[in-house]
Amino acid sequence: CDSPRLLLDFFQKVAERVLSRTAWAYYSSSAEDEASHGLDTGFVHAYMTTSFMGIKTALPIFVSPAALAGLGHPEGEVNITRGAGKAGIIQGISSNASRTIEDISAARLENQALFFQLYINKDRKESERIIRQIDELGYKGIMLTVDAPVLGKRERDIRNRLPTTDEETPTGRTGVSAQLDSFFDINLQWSDLQWLKSITDLPLIVKGVQTVEDAELAIEHGAKGVYLSCHGGRQLDYAPAAIDVLWELRQRRPDLFDKAEFYVDGGARRGTDVVKALALGARAVGLGRPFLYANGTYGERGVTKAIEILEEEIALAMRLVGARSVSELRPEMVERNDYGLV
Ligand code: FNR
Repeated sequence: CDSPRLLLDFFQKVAERVLSRTAWAYYSSSAEDEASHGLDTGFVHAYMTTSFMGIKTALPIFVSPAALAGLGHPEGEVNITRGAGKAGIIQGISSNASRTIEDISAARLENQALFFQLYINKDRKESERIIRQIDELGYKGIMLTVDAPVLGKRERDIRNRLPTTDEETPTGRTGVSAQLDSFFDINLQWSDLQWLKSITDLPLIVKGVQTVEDAELAIEHGAKGVYLSCHGGRQLDYAPAAIDVLWELRQRRPDLFDKAEFYVDGGARRGTDVVKALALGARAVGLGRPFLYANGTYGERGVTKAIEILEEEIALAMRLVGARSVSELRPEMVERNDYGLV
């Protein structure tokens, strides 16, 4: 982990060797043929600071909310919180985190911003209770995930049968995912954003938007942030890569970038992936698996290293395109060819 020549994929390679079979299958799994997974990977001083919902962040990257960091490391999300805090970046905390929201917020540095990823519960009172709690604990906003009314068919995870719990799953499916989605409200409507806004003043980011039309609707219904994501390819297989939706938005509705902040995630593994998304108008780019693998292999030290690798690569890409700050990255710096964005 201390080698100066590391790239993020290193953590994935080590994770495959050292994580438990269950953690590896759950983290790495994508839906069905895994067609969406990886579709999006193919792609002086640099001031990398930016703001995320009005909060200053040292780098234009953040930790995507991902469940069960504890499968990879006993300290779970808390290691990621510490690493993110020291680096000055924002972390999204999953509704299905291994650690409690109190534990995670206790691990925070003063002024460190956390966002809470919400799945709306069939029992609205329970969602209200959680929202009140995160507000009191000082979380800075809500990432409302809308791409997971039910969980995708994640075959690596399903094949990795969990002998002790298989019988109890609500769907009859095996694997870790089968344990997680029983409380989700599958009848989520755009009008539920109104309900959410009526019970909290925390800024609302809608996560899992996959079309230009839904980005418009999210903004119309009061979202301050639109988070383009296909859930790391774990939900609908063949869902479009977020970077392609971002490209389409830039072509069709450039005006929307003034109406809300846009975030993307999915397959970002290099500084150049981040810089392309920023140039097209994303505020920040999230990474999910890289932090799970880094934490699952080297704990907090791995998380810190992963951020350092990205920081270095982002700075390098910015220097090479001639941008001194994030605001100097322009859409014209990105082209599209048959292989994707270059
Ligand atoms: C996720 N993701 C996710 N998203 C969410 O809104 N709530 C959740 O609980 C989870 N859980 C989760 C678990 C695991 C193991 C993974 C890999 C992902 C999706 C996550 O926020 C993000 O969209 C993707 O991880 C981004 O893709 P990459 O960076 O992993 O390629």
